[in-house]
Amino acid sequence: MFHIVKSYLNFLWHSKNEHGVHSPFVFSLVTKCFYDKKEYAEYALLKNYRNTLLQNKNTIEVTDFGAGSRVFKSNTRAINQIAKNAGISKKRAELLFRITNYFKPENILEIGTSLGLATSALSLGNPKAKIITLEGCQNTSAIAQKQFENLTLKAEFIVAEFSTYLKPFDFRLSTFDLIYFDGNHSKQATLDYFELLLPTITNETVWIFDDIHWSKDMEEAWKTIKNHPKVTVTIDTFQWGLVFFRKEQPKEHFVIRI
Ligand SMILES: C[S@@+](CC[C@H](N)C(=O)[O-])C[C@H]1O[C@@H](n2cnc3c(N)ncnc32)[C@H](O)[C@@H]1O
Repeated sequence: MFHIVKSYLNFLWHSKNEHGVHSPFVFSLVTKCFYDKKEYAEYALLKNYRNTLLQNKNTIEVTDFGAGSRVFKSNTRAINQIAKNAGISKKRAELLFRITNYFKPENILEIGTSLGLATSALSLGNPKAKIITLEGCQNTSAIAQKQFENLTLKAEFIVAEFSTYLKPFDFRLSTFDLIYFDGNHSKQATLDYFELLLPTITNETVWIFDDIHWSKDMEEAWKTIKNHPKVTVTIDTFQWGLVFFRKEQPKEHFVIRI
């Protein structure tokens, strides 16, 4: 807890709004996407997706992975509690929708489906996108799949342990325009997935890492990612770290308040 407070104060001290941003690429992203105040019709669909889960008091047996939970003590969990504690917030889901809508990525990978709250934002952000979403817990993924069926949204749901799925994946055949990293928030796993997925980048690719300040470990991972020679622009929004590989951009790290 102390770590997060300290990190947040540090973030507030260094962060800016659009005024300190001289890169046209980042200025445009911040003003036209991050700070876009339009009430999109899709926000109502996101709300509907969330409310259906928040009203669902049924319990499921979950398989726990990764860095573990700071909230749940048992593996029998109520669906509404998973939605409340493990899912993306309303504000972030709307931002993820806007980012997807802004960049229009054709091929998307999500690492960590949970109940599909973020997946629904990705899908609504670009309904034409081909989305692959990975989740290790069969029962959790099944709830997300049912939600997608009921709301006629589209994504390919894969149930697998992340590294088992990613290692044999034939990256020569795939590129991803957007990857949302939201599972196993540990330094080693984050850096492993980073390296494993590098062959899938294009010049336009955007990667979004969740919880970059969650722990000292994750902050170290974020620092390593920023320093990687293939990475040019990064944007730290405190909750998320956005990573770009655009060769025409000089290497520059932004800290932006949203
Ligand atoms: C934070 S939740 C994802 C939340 C989701 N993206 C959202 O915003 O609604 C992370 C999910 O990743 C899954 N997970 C964590 N580590 C994993 C691993 N190593 N392999 C497979 N699944 C894993 C967990 O079961 C959990 O459902």
